[in-house]
Amino acid sequence: MTVSSFEGESVSAQEVALTARMERLLCLVSQAVVRPSFDRCCEDMNQFFDSFYFLLCEKEPHLVALFAQVDMKRQNQLVRSGVEHLLGYAEGTLEAKAELRRLGESHSRQGLQIDPKLYESWVDTIIECVREHDPQSTEMVETAWSEVLAPGIELMKSLY
Ligand code: HEM
Repeated sequence: MTVSSFEGESVSAQEVALTARMERLLCLVSQAVVRPSFDRCCEDMNQFFDSFYFLLCEKEPHLVALFAQVDMKRQNQLVRSGVEHLLGYAEGTLEAKAELRRLGESHSRQGLQIDPKLYESWVDTIIECVREHDPQSTEMVETAWSEVLAPGIELMKSLY
């Protein structure tokens, strides 16, 4: 039975149920695996984000000049809240969705002009830092991070 249509394609009741299940699973993975891992990483938040900016700028050296003007202590706090919004979005929170839309717009060509191609390095760097700073990190934990961050990152990229 066809119950709805998405971009002209008909979607069956089974597919709708499967999507809802996948969304619930992503929420569980975020709450049970990624949030506890982020809490462990943030036990020394400044160390986590200092490594983050060091490794990101190693991959994308032109960002050094961009971050040179920024108060990095304040930025660490802001990016921490940015990560929280990415996790909240994967968990289906409406407030996180609104915040991520705002961030997507603030980073867009009308704002900070952060090229969407840079988001891949951003995510790779977060995961490298998790490997370095979460003593319980495993390949499974890193895969969970990558799956949980992806939908919010896609939303931000789509708003460029
Ligand atoms: C490589 C990709 C990115 C670069 C180069 C970048 C760069 C910047 C810069 C230059 C600022 C302004 C800082 C200031 O002048 O005070 C900023 C603000 C901010 N960024 Fe990013 N950003 C990137 C990706 C992200 C991502 C994926 C998130 C997570 C959601 C994020 C979260 C934030 C937040 C929360 C702020 C504070 C400003 C606001 O609330 O609009 N950024 N970013």
